Amino acid sequence: MVIEKSYRLAEIDKRIYGSFIEHLGRAVYTGIYEPTHPTADEDGFRKDVLSLVADLQVPIVRYPGGNFVSNYIWEDGVGPKDRRPHRLDLAWRTIETNEMGVDEFARWSKKANTEMMMAVNLGTRGLSEACNLLEYCNISSGSFYSDMRVKNGVNSPYNIKTWCLGNEMDGPWQLGHKTAEEYGRLATETAKAMRQLDPSIELVCCGSSNSEMPTYPDWEATVLGHAYDDVDYISMHQYYAKRTDNRQDFLAESMRMDDFIKTVVSVCDFVKAKKRSAKKMMISFDEWNVWYHSLKKDDDIMNNKPWGIAPPLVEDIYTFEDALVAATLLITLIKHSDRIRMACLAQLVNVIAPVMTEKGGAAWRQSIYWPFMHMSVFGRGIALNPITTSDKYDGSTFTDVSYLESTAVYNEENSEVTIFAVNRSIEDDMLLDCDMRSFGNCCLKEHIEMAGFDLDAVNLPNNEIIKPNVADTKIDGNEFGIKLKKASWNVIRLKVG
Ligand code: AHR
Repeated sequence: MVIEKSYRLAEIDKRIYGSFIEHLGRAVYTGIYEPTHPTADEDGFRKDVLSLVADLQVPIVRYPGGNFVSNYIWEDGVGPKDRRPHRLDLAWRTIETNEMGVDEFARWSKKANTEMMMAVNLGTRGLSEACNLLEYCNISSGSFYSDMRVKNGVNSPYNIKTWCLGNEMDGPWQLGHKTAEEYGRLATETAKAMRQLDPSIELVCCGSSNSEMPTYPDWEATVLGHAYDDVDYISMHQYYAKRTDNRQDFLAESMRMDDFIKTVVSVCDFVKAKKRSAKKMMISFDEWNVWYHSLKKDDDIMNNKPWGIAPPLVEDIYTFEDALVAATLLITLIKHSDRIRMACLAQLVNVIAPVMTEKGGAAWRQSIYWPFMHMSVFGRGIALNPITTSDKYDGSTFTDVSYLESTAVYNEENSEVTIFAVNRSIEDDMLLDCDMRSFGNCCLKEHIEMAGFDLDAVNLPNNEIIKPNVADTKIDGNEFGIKLKKASWNVIRLKVG
C-alpha cells in the first residue's frame, strides 16, 4: 500500500457517517423512546441508548422513514400528546401511536448531538403537505404552520437543512408508488416550491431502491432528466445479504456497492452532459447495511400476527462476519467520497442496527457497531487515494476480489493518517507493506484490531464478546509491514510529519 500525501480524493463530508431512524418496529418505541424505562429522561428518551449513540458521533439522522413516510400524516405527530390519533401504518402493518413526532425527534436529535435529515411524504401526499411541514420546521413565525410550532412550545425554527423528496418511489411496495416520469415531475415541482419557502435547504431526490430493480438505471436518467437543476443529491439504497454458503462470496459484497456507485455516477454525468450543465450531481447513499437474518421472521409477523404497537421487526442479529462486510462497505463509501456526500447506516436502533435494546432492559452494541464507530471517529479529513496491490480471488458472484480492502484518511489538523483495512481471507494472515515516505516521520499511535472471533459469533445483551482490542504492533520508520490477521478489521492510526 503506497500512501502518498498528495494523492487526494476528496475532503470527506462528515455526513457520510449518518444513520437513520424510521417509525418501524422498535426503532422509535422501546428503542430511542421508552418513558417507563429505568434510564428514561424527562422526555422519555432512553439515556442508555443516547450514550451508545453519542459514542458513534453520528452527524445526521434521517427521519421518519423509509417506507413509513410514504403514508405519514406529519400533523398527527404534533401538539398535545393526548389528542394524537392512533393510525394504521400500512407500510409495516403496525399501529402508530404518534407519541413521537417531529418536535420530539428534534429534541432527541439535540440530545444525541446530531442533525436531522427530514423526509417528506410524496407517496400519498404531495407538494402542499411537504411545504407545510417545511414551514412548520424552518420558518420563524407569523404564518399558520410556523405559529403552530410556536404554539406547540418551540419558539425557534429548526432550520433543517437536508430534505428527502419521498422514499423509494420506484418500488411497487411503496404506498403511492410512481413511474419515473410521474415521480420526476412531482419531485421537481415539490423541490421548486420548497426552495421558494426556504432557499437554504438541500434536496435529495429518490434514485433506485437497489441495483436489481427492473427500472434501474433508467429510473435515475429519467428522474434527473426532470429534476437535475432543482435537486442537490440523488439517493442510493442497497442492502447486502449472504446469497451463497461461501463466506468469501459474502465478504466480496462491497463490490456490488462499488459497481452500483460507479453506474449511478455515470448516469448523473450522462444527464449533466445532456443538459450541458455545469453542476455536478452528488449522491446521498441514505440506506445501506447488511440485511438478511430477520427476513423470514418478519414475513411471519407481517402476514400472520394481529396489528400491534412496535412489533419486533427487522431485528437482524449481526455476526462477526457481518461486521467485516459492513467495514468493507464503509471503506467503499470513503473510496467514492468525491461523489458521496451523505450516507446513512440503516438503521440506528433495533432495526438492522448497531444498537439493540430490550424493552425495559439492556441496551447493547452489535458487531457492526465497532467498524462504524471507528470510521466515524477516525475517518474525518481527506480521503487519500492509496495505490494498493494484493492477491485476488474469484468467487461465484464476483471475480478479481482483492483479499485486502483498504483506504487511508489524512486528518491534517491532527497530523494523523488512519489506515482502515479488512483482510478478507478467512484462511491466511497477510503482511501489509506500507510505503508512507511522503509523510516524513511516522509513528504508530495504535493498531485497533478485531480478529480471531468465530465468524458466526454474535453479541447478546450483557454479553458483548465481539469487541476491538489493541494489537501488539510495532513499526519502524515510514516503510513498514503490519500483520493483518485472517478475517480481520484493522484501524491503524499513525502520527505523521
Ligand atoms: O430500512 C428498512 C426499509 O428498507 C426502509 O423502510 C425502506 O426505505 C427500505 O426498503
